[in-house]
Amino acid sequence: MNTQFDVPSSIIVGGGSRKGLPEQVRRLEASRVLLVSDAFLVESGVVEEMASGMREEGIDVSVFSDVQPDPTDRNVLDGVEVLRSSSAQAIVAVGGGSPIDTAKVIAVAATNEGPLSAFQGYHRIAKRGLPLIVVPTTAGTGSEATKVAVITDTQRDVKMMMLDRHLLPTVAIVDYELSMTMPASLTANVGVDTLTHAIEAFVSKKSNAMTDPIALSCIDLVARYLERAWKDPDDRKAREGMALAACQGGMAFSNSSVCLVHGMSRPIGAVFHVPHGLSNAILLPEVTRFSVAGAEERYARVSRTMGFASDEETDSAACAALVEGLVALNARLQVPRLSQCRGVDKDRFEANVEKMAQDALDSGSPQNNPLVPTAAEIVDLYRGVY
Ligand SMILES: NC(=O)c1ccc[n+]([C@@H]2O[C@H](COP(=O)([O-])OP(=O)(O)OC[C@H]3O[C@@H](n4cnc5c(N)ncnc54)[C@H](O)[C@@H]3O)[C@@H](O)[C@H]2O)c1
Ligand SMILES: [Fe+2]
Repeated sequence: MNTQFDVPSSIIVGGGSRKGLPEQVRRLEASRVLLVSDAFLVESGVVEEMASGMREEGIDVSVFSDVQPDPTDRNVLDGVEVLRSSSAQAIVAVGGGSPIDTAKVIAVAATNEGPLSAFQGYHRIAKRGLPLIVVPTTAGTGSEATKVAVITDTQRDVKMMMLDRHLLPTVAIVDYELSMTMPASLTANVGVDTLTHAIEAFVSKKSNAMTDPIALSCIDLVARYLERAWKDPDDRKAREGMALAACQGGMAFSNSSVCLVHGMSRPIGAVFHVPHGLSNAILLPEVTRFSVAGAEERYARVSRTMGFASDEETDSAACAALVEGLVALNARLQVPRLSQCRGVDKDRFEANVEKMAQDALDSGSPQNNPLVPTAAEIVDLYRGVY
């Protein structure tokens, strides 16, 4: 089978690399940009730092910072309006996955016709969007390196997964220093999202020779640095490792795929607004327990890369160690059960669980899983993590 590997034209990595943003804007021959971010990053001064750096170089900057976590179609449409009135020639996104995904879809909505729901699914975006530079501040979704965006359709309460080469940023600037302000819980949530990207990319039916080494490198970095960054937010080496891991995880899954964890995670986000990384973390051990039989050798390699099993152990022992290792990791990172998350009460859960299972299947992600579940099995898995 032929495979296709798409990444941004340039990925600039390193502490302090954000200072090169104005030069990157100039290279795109843009003199007016729209900076997309969120309220926290305005308050923390990061938006001002990035905007004034560009203004000092004579670049005209308009700011759109009304992006909510797990962004919606309304966020995108509001951003498109600001874009039109500013007549910006390029977009800069500064933030976690939410501002980055919003900026990606603003960029293509500016050049393509139709409602945003027309972009949902695979390869549905006809024309390339405005040039886009992304600067991630969480580590992270890896969105800086992916051809994916996730936007909630507020009418249908569905997190729309959009995958298209035209969603790739032109330039990604990965400066781990921006992630050092993340509190422990966010570090854990987005770090397990990173790990999930790499594990799912590696076990996916779409895994391939280009994505395998990147996925394994990501898993190795997460094993070494996630808990260090969680325990000590000022551990620069750990922050750097996790920023690299996030970007690699993005490259891996965007060119392979995510699977059942992400398929089941998006409906939890859409219905209960549990943050994306947290719902992945809640699901990862149980979904892994369900899936290992479908790709024992691959899950065993994940387990050994995580340091949960040695080369001497059989694959099936390594798979068992992986499940237990992931359960223990969640416990150490204080990941709650689904029922302990804010707003997830039993009645609403039961009222929604069948629709969530159907939405998970409809997203297409579970079909890439080593074992493809039925809707009833997905319902059981949801109940298992509740
Ligand atoms: N496009 C992709 O490839 C892809 C992949 C995975 C997830 N996602 C999507 O990304 C979104 C989640 O992104 P996220 O997990 O990065 O979080 P986020 O962007 O939603 O941010 C979460 C919170 O953390 C804050 N924050 C951001 N940077 C911070 C920092 N350095 N210090 C302290 N606080 C900070 C934000 O202001 C926000 O309040 C979801 O919508 C998810 O579906 C996209
Ligand atoms: Fe994710």
